[in-house]
Amino acid sequence: MSSALSATLAAKRLEGKVALITGGASGIGESTARLFVKHGAKVLIADVQDDLGQSICQEFDSQETISYVHCDVTCDSDVQNAVDTAVSRYGKLDIMFNNAGISGKPEEKILATENEDFKKVLDVNIFGAFLGAKHAARVMIPAKKGCILFTSSIVSVCCTDCPYAYIASKYAVVGLAKNLCVELGQYGIRVNSISPFGVATPMVKSAFGILGKKEIEELVSSAANLKGVVLEADDIAQAALYLASDESKYISGINLAVDGGYSLTNPSFSMAMKSLFS
Ligand SMILES: NC(=O)c1ccc[n+]([C@@H]2O[C@H](COP(=O)([O-])OP(=O)(O)OC[C@H]3O[C@@H](n4cnc5c(N)ncnc54)[C@H](O)[C@@H]3O)[C@@H](O)[C@H]2O)c1
Repeated sequence: MSSALSATLAAKRLEGKVALITGGASGIGESTARLFVKHGAKVLIADVQDDLGQSICQEFDSQETISYVHCDVTCDSDVQNAVDTAVSRYGKLDIMFNNAGISGKPEEKILATENEDFKKVLDVNIFGAFLGAKHAARVMIPAKKGCILFTSSIVSVCCTDCPYAYIASKYAVVGLAKNLCVELGQYGIRVNSISPFGVATPMVKSAFGILGKKEIEELVSSAANLKGVVLEADDIAQAALYLASDESKYISGINLAVDGGYSLTNPSFSMAMKSLFS
């Protein structure tokens, strides 16, 4: 390994930055919180799973590095409090990662989709993301800098047989991010979204019912375009690290697919050909 490359890998890429991560008590948010701390950021985890969030923080030496705040992203005053806590505890807010999300019921058919479930998923996934962006902008605009990130999903790029509420919410997140990019660029604020392919997190495990982590990873890998690697929460965290760091200082308005090229594939024609000749 060259010395320049080892220096880059060893560097703390978020030194001096403060990040607020919603949904940071589990899965992708938890991995991102851990990676951001490793790279020198002060991190505030905002979640509704208080015990989990607090237990992650207790693994670290002090609240000066990472701490927890209860925050239901669908509640304006909770999100306001989370942003204000980041500022009062750590002095500012540089990175707002709107990552909290739910999958909703796994029903894929329109006629069986329950109205209340649809509203609940949109409430968390898009209204919650909107509140996070709004309160982050409130403190970032006067600071004339900042980075707002969202976790969308690969379903925002490539339509699958996916529950309606989930896909609608994740498309909406991308629209929200792009519009924010246009409005907030004048204040030096960058806005991007990340769209992961399948990662075996607790959200996915509960959606898949009886399947365990290993079985889900095998299932995802068998459908994947990129073979020989397993997509993990840390891979999404690495994308967030890049977008949150100054290495991406001129990147704004993108929806970064972390999918190994899956969204470029469309096997339906070759499947039809195969079925013709089999
Ligand atoms: N895992 C995947 O395959 C995948 C793929 C694409 C996108 N995503 C997205 O990634 C994000 C993180 O999900 P994950 O896979 O890490 O699942 P996860 O269940 O491990 O984490 C989601 C976190 O969000 C929190 N949360 C849920 N509702 C909340 C609310 N109202 N207020 C505050 N926090 C709340 C949960 O408590 C949990 O800690 C979600 O937005 C999800 O849609 C996941």
